[in-house]
Amino acid sequence: MTHPFRTSAVIGAGTIGLSWTALFAGHGLTVRVSDPRPDLAEAIDTALAQFTPHLAALGLDVEGLAGRVHVAADVTEAVHDADVVQENGPENLQFKKRLFAQLVEEAPWHALLLSSSSAIPATAFTGEIQDASRILIGHPFNPPHVIPLVEVVPGEYTSEDAVQDAVDFYSLLGRTPIVERKEIPGFVGNRLQHALSREAAYLVEQGVVTPDDLDTVLTRSLGIRWATVGLFLGQHLGGGPGGYRQLVEHIGASMGELTPGEPSQRPEDRMRVVEAVEKAYGSRTYADLVEDRDRRQLAVLSALDGTAGTTHTNAHSEEN
Ligand SMILES: NC(=O)c1ccc[n+]([C@@H]2O[C@H](COP(=O)([O-])OP(=O)(O)OC[C@H]3O[C@@H](n4cnc5c(N)ncnc54)[C@H](O)[C@@H]3O)[C@@H](O)[C@H]2O)c1
Repeated sequence: MTHPFRTSAVIGAGTIGLSWTALFAGHGLTVRVSDPRPDLAEAIDTALAQFTPHLAALGLDVEGLAGRVHVAADVTEAVHDADVVQENGPENLQFKKRLFAQLVEEAPWHALLLSSSSAIPATAFTGEIQDASRILIGHPFNPPHVIPLVEVVPGEYTSEDAVQDAVDFYSLLGRTPIVERKEIPGFVGNRLQHALSREAAYLVEQGVVTPDDLDTVLTRSLGIRWATVGLFLGQHLGGGPGGYRQLVEHIGASMGELTPGEPSQRPEDRMRVVEAVEKAYGSRTYADLVEDRDRRQLAVLSALDGTAGTTHTNAHSEEN
């Protein structure tokens, strides 16, 4: 690591930014949060109250956590002493272009500048910036204080030091960073999710399955398999002692005849899928569903890693 991480700035405090805020503070960092939303202070308080039990379940020391989080008047104030900035504003190219040009000017020279962008690669919004060597993608999965993966995706102008710093930073936070060397819209996780989501919408649209039964198919089969061995190792084992080679040469041939369905783009057909999902889950409140999701995900992580994958360290104590 080329520098320690003591002070962080979170730009954009919606779904993702608030979750990062809790995680950063849970690892002992000072967090300065900037967002034009009028209820920012209240949103932070609510999020910290909701997420503190999760952080405790992850084995973090949550003592004094709220005292480390500060509302900043604007982006300039949020980043003035930042070692690391995590951007979580709207998924909009022009917004990210403007913001990162400002960050390069106003954050300290050593600050690592990370974007949570779900689909826009860094090179798309750093092309006009003179020195974009510290800018890269750190794409989390919602909620980032629970789901461990972070896709670290350097752009054309990102330095190797910045890539290593990002890996170090997310590792200190108990995350699992994976470096992806070639930029592609949506990166890896969302491309996989999108491919499956298209097929799921097609199956519901065709009346093959209801949304909740489809979810049961996943949670009681592929979800368990993928959470433990992933896709390729799962298939390597699925081929028996002959492994993935056996699978490709035998079962693979019959699977190759299955062509993925194309979900309809007609608004009325898409609405039918929306209505089916609302029929399946609409009777439960959002808060109730989120609570249930978080409880289950923490239980899965605990089962997989013992301590839900955290390193139990305060990030600022880890210096070299
Ligand atoms: N929601 C997800 O599942 C998810 C997962 C991974 C990554 N992401 C990415 O994270 C980013 C944020 O997504 P989200 O779901 O939290 O969105 P969100 O709409 O919940 O939050 C965005 C926030 O940015 C704020 N904002 C707008 N202009 C701003 C400005 N000038 N300065 C600072 N803040 C500003 C908004 O007030 C809002 O609170 C996006 O790039 C998105 O693609 C989202």
